[in-house]
Amino acid sequence: MNDTLRTIAERFSCRSFTDQQPEDKYLHAIAEAAIQAPSGMNRQCWHVIVVKNRNIIAEMEQEGMNFLSSMEDQSMYHRILSRGGKLFYNASCMIVIAIKQAYPKGAELIDCGILAQNIVLAATSLGIASLHCGFVGLAFAGERAAEFKNKLKFPEGYECGMGILLGYAKETMPPHIPNQEKITIIE
Ligand SMILES: Cc1cc2nc3c(=O)[nH]c(=O)nc-3n(C[C@H](O)[C@H](O)[C@H](O)COP(=O)(O)O)c2cc1C
Repeated sequence: MNDTLRTIAERFSCRSFTDQQPEDKYLHAIAEAAIQAPSGMNRQCWHVIVVKNRNIIAEMEQEGMNFLSSMEDQSMYHRILSRGGKLFYNASCMIVIAIKQAYPKGAELIDCGILAQNIVLAATSLGIASLHCGFVGLAFAGERAAEFKNKLKFPEGYECGMGILLGYAKETMPPHIPNQEKITIIE
């Protein structure tokens, strides 16, 4: 196995972070790896926002929980509460990928996903734990969306595409076991 394959195999979803903030030189390297991602027609309809401000992260987490509690279906809210009420698992750093709608509609989501994976693989290679976190989007789903876009300096016309949590793992978990039945080889 080479270093790239090892990094891919070692990445896991971290759900318990220490208070330690990843060093700036690593965050810069991760952000650089993010924007090296390919995109359809090289349109790069994205913006990478590295959030090191723990107060903002805490506010976004609270807003996410408020949003879940306001939903008619409360099952997710109660599930999170039963797991300690944490959406962001004490992560000291978050990357928000802001995206702008591309043509054909939805293409920007594919670009966003590829960029997100560059982030988590770069982080893993540097010993930094990560989590793709769809729940980050909840902060932009309710009444405070404009406020958070403003705080995070979203470029005009951009929406939240995806969030990634970064930090050092308090607890290391094994990644999921790949299901070999998901591979078909046609000879
Ligand atoms: C698009 C996407 C969104 C996700 N959102 C969340 C999330 O909000 N909270 C969470 O705890 N895990 C989230 N995950 C992590 C998945 O649950 C995790 O990748 C999956 O269980 C496989 O585990 P592994 O990443 O450790 O291999 C997300 C993963 C992806 C790809």
